[in-house]
Amino acid sequence: MYRTKYCAEFTKDDVGTRAKVCGWVQKQRDLGTLIFIDLRDRTGIIQLAFDDKTDRDIFDMAFSARAEFVLAAEGVIRHRGEGAINPNMKTGEIELYVDKMEVLSVAQTPPFEVKDETDVKEELRLKYRYLDLRRAPLQRNMLVRSQVARYAREYFEDNGFLEIETPVLIKSTPEGARDYLVPSRVHPGSFYALPQSPQLYKQLLMLSGFDRYIQIAKCFRDEDLRADRQPEFTQIDLEMSFVDENDIMTMVEGFIAGVFKKVLGYDVELPIKRMSWDEAMNRYGSDKPDLRFGFELVDLSSVLKDTEFKVFSSAIKEGGSVRAINIKGGADKFSRKEIDKLTDFAKTYRAKGLAWSKWSGEQSSSFAKFLSEEELRSVYGLTGFEEGDLLLVVADTKNKVVFDSLGALRCEVAEKLGMRPKDQYKFVWVTDFPMFEYDEEDERYVAMHHPFTSPRECDVENLLTSPDKVYARAYDIVLNGTELGGGSVRIHRQDLQAKVFEALGLTKEDADVKFGFLLEAFKYGAPPHAGLAFGLDRLVSLMLGLDAIRDVIAFPKVQNASELMTQCPSPVPQKSLDELFIASTVKEDL
Ligand code: AMO
Ligand code: AMP
Repeated sequence: MYRTKYCAEFTKDDVGTRAKVCGWVQKQRDLGTLIFIDLRDRTGIIQLAFDDKTDRDIFDMAFSARAEFVLAAEGVIRHRGEGAINPNMKTGEIELYVDKMEVLSVAQTPPFEVKDETDVKEELRLKYRYLDLRRAPLQRNMLVRSQVARYAREYFEDNGFLEIETPVLIKSTPEGARDYLVPSRVHPGSFYALPQSPQLYKQLLMLSGFDRYIQIAKCFRDEDLRADRQPEFTQIDLEMSFVDENDIMTMVEGFIAGVFKKVLGYDVELPIKRMSWDEAMNRYGSDKPDLRFGFELVDLSSVLKDTEFKVFSSAIKEGGSVRAINIKGGADKFSRKEIDKLTDFAKTYRAKGLAWSKWSGEQSSSFAKFLSEEELRSVYGLTGFEEGDLLLVVADTKNKVVFDSLGALRCEVAEKLGMRPKDQYKFVWVTDFPMFEYDEEDERYVAMHHPFTSPRECDVENLLTSPDKVYARAYDIVLNGTELGGGSVRIHRQDLQAKVFEALGLTKEDADVKFGFLLEAFKYGAPPHAGLAFGLDRLVSLMLGLDAIRDVIAFPKVQNASELMTQCPSPVPQKSLDELFIASTVKEDL
């Protein structure tokens, strides 16, 4: 046995007892006749002590120990000497006075020091991720991730769910993101896809009568990476039969409240507030609103539609709008230069400009001079613009641009004003999403959630005539401005599914080729069913107040979807390609 307890588990109660520990050398301090070694394992650190009464060989071993050596040590736990107590350390009052020791492994000087606070470039840390993972913050992240996954299994099992695995090599049915493809050796020219989610399989499991399914599932999406997106990530995926949206939301709320209580000791207020998609867009300019602060959008179109200021009136006349956010008390916090920066920021969301008014002592404005007195009074009245405020206005012929830019601006401004504390958790359900969105590139409607989502009963008649007026029985759970999970009530009637495919511009033949197995399955008795999937990585990173999901993934990928430690993806031998009947069209030296 290498250890009696983990390093940081020893307390004053152990003083006088014999103990064995093992771990990595955090640091060694040589004071001539005294040597101290901080020994680290995943619980923390214990101090090993050596002095002139220590056996010579062991003293020499301690003398030559360097950072990251792996040691096993045995001795007696004792109080530290007066003045040597470290109140910042869990084991700061005790130490292990060593009388036996073994160097289990020596270590080269690592490329960076393993310590909690680090300013080492992330690139280097990812290249040596196994060293990076030795750091206490990452050890804690992995621990919390494990606790969350474990709680998910417990909670859903207690509620009658079965954990069922679905395949990872599946049929490619590209909808949404791009698939990762895997060539088949046995079927030359044919490919599997890695699942973007277990969606179709979990629905088929409902058809098989399993009733309540859960899986902690790896998902793969070949899309552009962001801080909250990885090409492979993990979902807590669930599905239930004979339920509607309320049952799913209640079940999920129980999980959320439970996991926050168990892992963080935090009380989530239930039920979680609900808001329709339309309301979320109109009030927050986003379908994932951050509710930790206000700065709600105000529609100024009704009072500006006939203004002489063409930037505003023509945006409205061409089907768009003019909207504003009032940054209460923000006048003093944003200089002209900073407003210019906000303008550039808004432009990254395709806004053509940002109009503003500022009232700090004097009033100044980029657009007041273009409006009539009455128009200006209405604008200030509607927005509640007062002394101390900063008003930001965007006009565009496309409402999407107005929403996107103001939605992002309100978060950007709140961030700058310190109004997004990471230890405050504001949940909201966003419901009643539009069923379809128009894809300008493809010039066709695409499913906003996925094509198996049920439209609202009252909208079914509009499916083929005006798809833009159809809303879906879909719901997202949003936390602090991030989409944590999403789901929907599914279509379980074959005729309705066929109609939705038609609205999406899929011919009967297309639908048969892509989803024939599913349409066929629906012929043999399908229960009403609904479900949802959480992003586990996002859940854990938000619980921990982290900015990127990389920090809760042991071996994440970087921006260009490669992994720096193993350097994948990588070329493979020609022989492997030949076996798969694959020829590359990549030109050398491109
Ligand atoms: P959706 O596509 O909304 O729904 O995904 C569910 C949740 O998975 C997380 N997520 C991601 N996390 C990290 N990196 C990514 N690239 C990534 N993409 C998605 C998000 C998201 O809310 N089958 C449906 C669910 C259902 O209808 O039951 C689905 O996959 O947190
Ligand atoms: P201009 O007449 O182009 O100088 O614009 C006057 C003010 O309106 C400036 O503050 C611009 O930044 C602002 N502005 C221009 N286009 C827009 C727009 N699409 N939305 C909001 N403000 C705009």
